[in-house]
Amino acid sequence: MDYLLANTPLESLETECLIVAVFANQKLSPAAQTLDSLTGGIITDILQRGDIKGKLAETLLINYLPYAAFKRALLVSFGDENELTAKDYRKALNAAAKTLKTTQISSVVCCLAEAKVNGQCATWNARQIVEAFDAPFYQFNDCKSKPADKLCLTSVSLHSLTEAKAIQTGINQGIAIAQGVALAKRVSDLPGNICTPTYLAEQAVDIAAQYPNLSAEILEEEQMQKLGMGSFLSVSRGSRQPAKLITLEYKGGADDAQPIVFVGKGLTFDAGGISLKSSAGMDEMKYDMCGSAAVLGALQAAAQLQLPLNIVGIIPSSENMPDGDANKPGDIVTSMAGLTIEILNTDAEGRLILCDALTYAKKFNPDVVIDMATLTGACLVALGRVPSGLLGNDDTLCNDLFNASETALDSVWRLPLWDEYQDQLKSNFADIANIGGRDAGTITAACFLSRFTKDYQWAHLDIAGTAWKSGDAKGATGRPVPLLVQYLLNRANAA
Ligand code: BES
Ligand code: MN
Ligand code: ZN
Repeated sequence: MDYLLANTPLESLETECLIVAVFANQKLSPAAQTLDSLTGGIITDILQRGDIKGKLAETLLINYLPYAAFKRALLVSFGDENELTAKDYRKALNAAAKTLKTTQISSVVCCLAEAKVNGQCATWNARQIVEAFDAPFYQFNDCKSKPADKLCLTSVSLHSLTEAKAIQTGINQGIAIAQGVALAKRVSDLPGNICTPTYLAEQAVDIAAQYPNLSAEILEEEQMQKLGMGSFLSVSRGSRQPAKLITLEYKGGADDAQPIVFVGKGLTFDAGGISLKSSAGMDEMKYDMCGSAAVLGALQAAAQLQLPLNIVGIIPSSENMPDGDANKPGDIVTSMAGLTIEILNTDAEGRLILCDALTYAKKFNPDVVIDMATLTGACLVALGRVPSGLLGNDDTLCNDLFNASETALDSVWRLPLWDEYQDQLKSNFADIANIGGRDAGTITAACFLSRFTKDYQWAHLDIAGTAWKSGDAKGATGRPVPLLVQYLLNRANAA
């Protein structure tokens, strides 16, 4: 999809479809008023008939207009004009995009960017428009013998006369986020037999090749062995696919600026290992690499925007399979940090690969480290599919992520990481057990990680509930790419 700026007066524009806002009580936005007068008052007529009430997220496509320059118009209603929240704005944008998906329209002029949204600016509006219009047009065609019907819409122009510059900035940011989201969705939707650790490594190399200040390094099992990554490698031993430790390094900041480090769980298939999962829904465990997908998407977006930051992405990638050589319950392994781990359940493998990646992260002298992982089913029980779980050892970092999540509309909710929970990880035979019992599974998983992150400011995002959708809409969501990029934009602004 192309996203452009249209900054000429509506009177001198031509388009297949003009998108304008209407509000409760038959109120018209400025663009709707112009359209109304250009068409001899038909918008007022339509509102008076009650065909669109002005309730939040209603849409009405007017398929013919008595005005040659605009073939059609899409009315989008935003409810009460003076109480437009960020969430409501996005909800209406989503509805507008969904309406367009089923039409024959290939290009639109969208007049929704100048709306007054509580607490937000025109740049934010434009970013949201691009994200909202891009999302429903994502199609996964990689594995279909015949691609799905091509969608018509290929061009969205954001109209603005007064805030063209701010809106152009938002368009650029929105494109980078939307492309990061689409990349994350695609690699996550790919099945485990195609998207292997080797495939993920190739993706990282491909992305890096597109930007001069982005580089990729892939460590093989032998090299990880030398680094002492006994915990990570123990998971991979049960699989025929070789593990990869993927590092993407983006240098957009000063040479001596400490990097923001992202770490993403890249389990390209999690069968559970010897603690085998039950078969129902096991296919969904191809999504156990959504954390790594988000790291790829966020690094690509940062490079595309050439943010003035240094950023490192670290992806430990492996399969978790049952095999004669796989971890067995009761096995004890030694992590790169030197801590010994008793593996009481081989299905708690994410933390086993992440702990060594988190130790490895120290070598970059990080400013902050943020890991993201489809880590626990317990997170779905606690928080459902709405926010990602947020835990960490630093209030400033957690608050920064929370604030970014509100702006990005990619929500997180913090859970406590209190010392009291650490006791659940006691082992009679090793330094630490890899599971903490039935209670507070998301917290004890984060407690496990916290043993390896004492040397830096760290936050953990449990995205088990948010990174994909089950049921009819089964597929990846691309979360938390919007949150990560917003966090980076905020950091770049503060710098
Ligand atoms: N990848 C799973 C977590 C998961 C479960 C993500 C469901 C998305 C949906 C993780 O590796 C896992 O199996 N976790 C176990 C931990 C348990 C053994 C302590 C879980 O959540 O059951
Ligand atoms: Mn597992
Ligand atoms: Zn897993």
